[in-house]
Amino acid sequence: MRLDKYISQTGTASRKECARAARAGLILVNGIAVRDVSAHIDENSAEVVFCGKTVLWRRYTYVMLHKPAGVVCTTEDTPRSVMRLLPPEFARRGMFPCGRLDADTVGLLLITNDGPLAHALLSPRHHVEKVYTYICDPPITHRQLSQLEAGVDIDGYLTKPARVEAQSPDRGRIAVTEGKYHQIKRMFAAVGSKIVFLKREQFGPLVLDPSLAEGTWRYLTDAEIASLPYMQNLSE
Ligand code: URA
Repeated sequence: MRLDKYISQTGTASRKECARAARAGLILVNGIAVRDVSAHIDENSAEVVFCGKTVLWRRYTYVMLHKPAGVVCTTEDTPRSVMRLLPPEFARRGMFPCGRLDADTVGLLLITNDGPLAHALLSPRHHVEKVYTYICDPPITHRQLSQLEAGVDIDGYLTKPARVEAQSPDRGRIAVTEGKYHQIKRMFAAVGSKIVFLKREQFGPLVLDPSLAEGTWRYLTDAEIASLPYMQNLSE
């Protein structure tokens, strides 16, 4: 694999930054400065140090996106696709949104090309918790809140227990362990209210980075990657 591809895929630096660092002799491969970023290295055995920091190579790439309203969770190359908010090479590398948020829902979306991880996070068997902040209209009573927590009937399906922390009758946080189509909107509809704003704050162990503006993204940190359920199984 090309040296700049190897480094950029880990999220350490862009290819441009690699070229600059290499010219300055700041990229070492097996202890030797490599000034040509097109040089090929063996990704399974090479020890790469970028500006004094050892680069850990990963087969897959993991990105946290703060999804804005108006974009669609699809890998299709359409003008409203969420993939248009990311560098085009991500789609070429087979990256996709892990699960779906509605077009009008904002918040944390994981973009990866790690199929087994996506399966682990999305499988209903794994009960991965998703936390949303919501605003509803009309406001809900304590009784309706308790109904949401206990489980409500959405088109013949009884939702699993949820946690709701209301800040006021029309807004709060709801945590669910399922991901049915339009789940939160249908749950509120089942108790006679309507979601007018929905933002995903947490997806399993991942928490939306408050410094990420809507429409922007960053690579997951090593600690965030290590916290993902499938990674924990791998390291057991
Ligand atoms: N539930 C919904 O209704 N919409 C979303 O986007 C996510 C969860």
